This record gives sequence, structure tokens and C-alpha cells, in this order.
Amino acid sequence: MIITNIEDLRILAKQRVPRMFYDYADSGSWSESTYRANVSDFEGIKFRQRVAINMENRSLMTTMIGQNVAMPVAIAPCGMTGMQHADGEILAARAAEAFGVPFTLSTMSIASIEDVAANVSKPFWFQLYVMKDRAFVNDLIDRAKAAGCSALVLTLDLQILGQRHKDLKNGLSAPPKLTLPNILNMMTKPRWCTGMLGTKRRIFGNIVGHVKGVENMSSLSAWTAQQFDPALCWDDVQWIKERWGGKLILKGIMDPEDAQLAVKSGADALIVSNHGGRQLDGAASSIAALPEVIAAVGDSIEVHMDGGIRSGQDVLKALALGARGVYIGRPVLYGLGAMGEAGVAKCLELIQRELDITMALCGQTDVQKIGRHILR
Ligand code: FNR
Repeated sequence: MIITNIEDLRILAKQRVPRMFYDYADSGSWSESTYRANVSDFEGIKFRQRVAINMENRSLMTTMIGQNVAMPVAIAPCGMTGMQHADGEILAARAAEAFGVPFTLSTMSIASIEDVAANVSKPFWFQLYVMKDRAFVNDLIDRAKAAGCSALVLTLDLQILGQRHKDLKNGLSAPPKLTLPNILNMMTKPRWCTGMLGTKRRIFGNIVGHVKGVENMSSLSAWTAQQFDPALCWDDVQWIKERWGGKLILKGIMDPEDAQLAVKSGADALIVSNHGGRQLDGAASSIAALPEVIAAVGDSIEVHMDGGIRSGQDVLKALALGARGVYIGRPVLYGLGAMGEAGVAKCLELIQRELDITMALCGQTDVQKIGRHILR
């Protein structure tokens, strides 16, 4: 198969990844209306086609929270990335490093913070979930610091887990339970199985062995329901900020009022995000919420976004509406599931090329000068 777009990677991943993990990636909460809107709302945004403007010497380089990036696209934190492909977090982090874009490791990763740090040479970003066990949260922050992570991405939109029907029906767990349907399904995914048999990374690496009493935790939803802190509030953001002491990014801001509170908190950036349509079904798409958030905060904080980006064209639209940078979740998971590290590299290359060509056809040469003027 000749891969020409992200959809090709998705199709290949669907063939190669066991159903339980493919479904985990390709799903949203309840009716999935927000999940779908995240993608479809990009379609209504139209560019101005400009001609006879010198398009030579184009540049996609810019910064996100003061760090140089080859293009303003970071890899979003995704739980269980190491179940899409053996050693998935390490492979994605390496592809991101080679490309020159940030990789964000989820709290709910398979490979641990220390394990990823030992397998890359540049700092990555760490995403934090806040648990009731504050000693464990403190420990996670300290571990990310010790591993040299250059930003903390604090996720605020998952105090309670949204329901995804497919995960319940599939009995999602890491590692998968060896039931007859799972075994039959895995037998049709020989590449995935070979990879998994060849790695030790098959459990939640940041959790198991680090939380008292959690020696065998496989179900994400059961653990989340018990451990995540529903009482998380803005005061917590303060102590986390102080303990971390480095660049702080707040993830999951969709409302102008929350955006203003994010500014007040002193964070370096916020991410307009509805968790990829996995939390509040019926929330607006991220791209629809972005202009309202920008209007509320102006230049007082760096605004990033994620949700529904499936091409470089979508990246350009988000930049045109005021985002400083974006994150991609599922496109990376599809790349991994399809072809491992090469698939993530392919995903980044596709997006870069689409971004570059679209920018040129809009008569623009510098990604840092993109604004509303490129839209109709
Ligand atoms: C996520 N997301 C997520 N976010 C987070 O802060 N911590 C996490 O552990 C996860 N886990 C996770 C798993 C999977 C399978 C997906 C698809 C997503 C949300 C993620 O960071 C990001 O907000 C969305 O994925 C962005 O939307 P797209 O790019 O997937 O459309």
C-alpha cells in the first residue's frame, strides 16, 4: 500500500492492531458526536487561494512554550500507546525527536518515564493526571523532573472518566486477558503479537510497582474510577505548579471563563481540548471553541489546541484561528499501529508536507506569520 495520507495509516492500523486497542483509539464517549465534530468542523473553514506571490524559502519553524520546533505540531499524550505497538511510547518519542517536535508521555503509558528517558537523547514532555493519592502525584512530578522533562502538561478534563461503549464491550485491559475471542482476534495480528512477545513492556509502567497495593492493575477504567481525583480544583494547579517549577501547560480548556482562570494560574500555555471527544460528549469541537478562547485571553497566555487534526491543512486552519501550536493524538497512534516508528515518522512527514504546500498555495512563506487573513 502506498501511504499518501493519515487515513491510509488508520486503515493499516485497523488491520494490524487487535480490535480492543484499535477501538480504544478510534472512539469517543457516548454517541461520539463531539469526536466526529472535532474532525468535521475543520471542513467548513476555507482558505483564500492566492497567486503570483513568491513562494520560495518557506519556513515551518517556530516555538512552543519557548522551545524550538520543526513545525508547530506536538505529539499528544495517549494512554496505552505501548499497546498499539510494542514499545510504542519509545518509538513515538524517537520519531518525534528525529523530526524535531515535542513528544508528550501520558501518565497512563506502558513504558515508564525513566524507561523513555533512557531511550531518547532530548527532553520530552510529561502529562500528569491528578490522583487522590497525593504522595503518588508528588512522586510522579519529581520523577518527571529527575528524567529531565522540559514541560508538564496537566490534564484538567478527566476528573471522572467519560464512557466509551466499545471499551466496556471489549473488556479493554493491558495486557489483554487471554479469553477465547481475544486469542482468536490476536491470532489475526501476527506482527503485533511478535512485537509484544519480544518486549517486557506490557503493563502500566508509571503505576505498577509505584503505588502501594497496585501490583497487578490491568483495567484502565476500573483504576481511573477509583484513583482519579474528582475534587481536583484550581488550588491544586497552584501546588502542582510550585512543586514542578518548570514550564506548565494546562490541557482541556474549552470555555472562555476557564481560559481566564488558566491565565490567572500563571501557566505558560493552555490547550483547547475536549480530550479528543472522549470526555463530555456534546461539547463543542475544539476548533469551534478556539476563537472564543483566544478572544477571552488575547496574548496573555500561549494557546494551543488539539482534537480532530488529520492533515497539515487542519494544522494551518488552527494556526489561522490563533493557535500557537497543535497536538495530534490518533494520527500518531494509527502510524504506530500501522508501521511502528516508521509509521510515526510517516505521519509527521505527511502533516509537514500538507502544511507546507497549503501554506504556499495561500501565498504564505512563514508559519509564524499565519493569521486570520489567510481564511475567507
Ligand atoms: C487520549 N488522550 C489523553 N489525554 C491525556 O491527557 N492523557 C491521556 O492519557 C490520554 N489518553 C488518550 C488515549 C487515546 C487512545 C486517545 C485517542 C486520546 C487525549 C489526547 O491527548 C488528545 O487530547 C486527543 O487525542 C486529541 O485528539 P485527536 O488528535 O486524537 O483527534
